[in-house]
Amino acid sequence: MRFVSVALGVAIFIAINGRAPAADVSAGRALAEACAGCHGADGVSQIELTPSLAGQPDEFVQWQLVYFRSGARKSEVMGPIAQALSNEDIRNLGAYYASLPPPRPQETSAPDALMQNGEKVALQHRCRSCHADDYNGFRAAARLSGQREDVLVKALRDFKSGKRVGSGVASMADVTYEMTDSDMEAVSHYLAQRR
Ligand code: HEC
Ligand code: HEC
Repeated sequence: MRFVSVALGVAIFIAINGRAPAADVSAGRALAEACAGCHGADGVSQIELTPSLAGQPDEFVQWQLVYFRSGARKSEVMGPIAQALSNEDIRNLGAYYASLPPPRPQETSAPDALMQNGEKVALQHRCRSCHADDYNGFRAAARLSGQREDVLVKALRDFKSGKRVGSGVASMADVTYEMTDSDMEAVSHYLAQRR
C-alpha cells in the first residue's frame, strides 16, 4: 500500500514537472495573494499552527500541495485550497515561496537548557542528513530553521502518531518512532530559533 502511494506520488511529480515550461515566479506571487491571509504577506506566518513558507525548498512546497490535493496529507483547511490548484499553479507557487527570504527569528540571548537539549536531539537523530547541514531544507525535506515552534511540534507529533504520512518512504515516521514528547519540544525550540 505504502509502495503504491510512493509510486503514485512519484508519477504525479513527474507528470507535474516533466517537460513542463519553466516555473513563473510572478504568476506564483499573484496566486499567493490568496494564501497571505494565513501564511503571511511575505510568507512568514504570524498565525498559530500555520507554517511559514518563505525560503522553503521549491520541491517541498510542491510535494505538500500535491499531498493535500490528493488527500494523502489531511487538512480541512488546505485540502479544498489545494484541490483548486492546477499543476502549473503548484509549480509557480513552489518557485515563488523558494524565492522569498526565509524567516529571521529573534536573536535569543544566552542559549538556554532547552536549546542545548534540542541541539543534542537533532544531532542524535541526524536531522541534518536529510534537512541539510544548516537545517535549511533540501529538495523534498523541509526547511526547519526559523519555522514556527508550534508548527514543528505539531508536525513531529503528527508523524509519530501516523496522522501525517508524508512521502510514504516512512522517513519521518522512523525518525519520530523513538522520540519522546519532550525530545520533540526541545528540538522544535532549538530549530525555531536558528537562522
Ligand atoms: C485559511 C488559512 C490558510 C490559507 C488561506 C492557506 N493556508 Fe496553507 N496551511 C494552512 C494551515 C493551518 C496549514 C497547516 C496544516 C497542518 O497542520 O497540517 C497549512 C499548510 C500549508 C503547507 C504545508 C507547509 C508545511 O510546512 O508543512 C503549504 C505548502 C501551504 N499550506 C500552502 C498554501 C498555499 C500555496 C496557499 C494559497 C494557495 C495556502 N496554503 C492557503 C492554512 C492556510
Ligand atoms: C531520512 C531523512 C530524514 C531525516 C533523518 C529527518 N527528516 Fe524530517 N523530513 C524528511 C522529509 C522527506 C520530510 C517531508 C515529509 C513529507 O513528505 O511530508 C520531512 C519533514 C519534516 C518536518 C515537517 C516540516 C513541515 O514544515 O511540514 C519536520 C518538523 C521534520 N521533518 C523534522 C525533523 C527532525 C527534527 C529531524 C531529526 C530529529 C528530522 N526531521 C529528520 C526527511 C527526514
